[in-house]
Amino acid sequence: MQRGHHQNVPGKRAPVFRLRLLAWYDAHARDLPWRKNRDPYPVWVSEIMLQQTRVAAVIQHYDDFLRRFPTVEKLARARQSSVLAVWSGLGYYRRARMLHAAAKMIVRELHGKFPQTSGDWRELPGIGRYTCAAIASIACDEPIAVVDGNVERVLSRVSSRRLSEQQVWHAAEDLLDRERPGDFNQAMMELGATVCTPKAPACLLCPVVELCATRGDLPGETKALPQKKREIHYALDHHSENGRPARVFLLQRPRDASLMPGMWELPEISSPGDHAKPLFKVKHSITVTDYTVSVWSSSPSNHTAGKWIAVRQLPKLAMTGLARKILRKAGVTKSAGVR
Ligand code: ADE
Repeated sequence: MQRGHHQNVPGKRAPVFRLRLLAWYDAHARDLPWRKNRDPYPVWVSEIMLQQTRVAAVIQHYDDFLRRFPTVEKLARARQSSVLAVWSGLGYYRRARMLHAAAKMIVRELHGKFPQTSGDWRELPGIGRYTCAAIASIACDEPIAVVDGNVERVLSRVSSRRLSEQQVWHAAEDLLDRERPGDFNQAMMELGATVCTPKAPACLLCPVVELCATRGDLPGETKALPQKKREIHYALDHHSENGRPARVFLLQRPRDASLMPGMWELPEISSPGDHAKPLFKVKHSITVTDYTVSVWSSSPSNHTAGKWIAVRQLPKLAMTGLARKILRKAGVTKSAGVR
């Protein structure tokens, strides 16, 4: 590997860095549901869920998912619609489809045996450089470093340098504790998520502050992505029986839509004009767009396509996260975590 021009972060003090970071992790690691054991299946599921998704959101779905699909065989045998239904609310549904496809490959082509190296994990759908390293270090003890946004920020601050992508991976590889690679990687991500945060890092609580060349924000570091703003309008129509919501009118997205294909949502309508008042508004962010969503009361004669769906079927339906949010807010479904 060509490493001549790059400098270590934090140089000769790497052994001290490892010791302090791991001691901190041993004492303070968050008690996350996927840290209970290091079996490949739950580790893999958690790492796919954690791609582009906050830990808090993953916690809400992880146990449900494993209860519904406790083994890779059960996942491989499931229908795609069931997998999407349990994934509902996590977003980036392509991940769920790839996870499902990978489960089928593991069962059919690898006879139910999980890959044992990062290189073999990476052959599976939905697994890139970051995810194969995370899984192999945690589940197979492979000494391979992980870089995500958190790790990148920690390393830039520790070295007080803006690092290129290649430099970040090299720096992470140099710093890795090769005895406990899985714990070390998780500790780096944890430090970035809880202490060395993008804004107002908690340097007073940092286990490696003495080895850090920045101790605070790196100047010019925070560049928030510009969010686009959009307004959208949805029609909500539901029937009650005995005073309880019984059916709701929903529409299935085209199976070839690029975003959330085949998932159910409320029918979208054009803005009903300036004088009218919506039932309510909600805010919703997807990737780089902040949506202001107005929900209007509307009757079926206005709808061209769509279907009445029984409210009790909703938990099993592959519905968009936004549709779930709207139905909860409208009181059609319960707001507690009963799913
Ligand atoms: N982000 C992605 N994977 C993670 C893990 N295992 N621990 C903490 N944060 C993570």
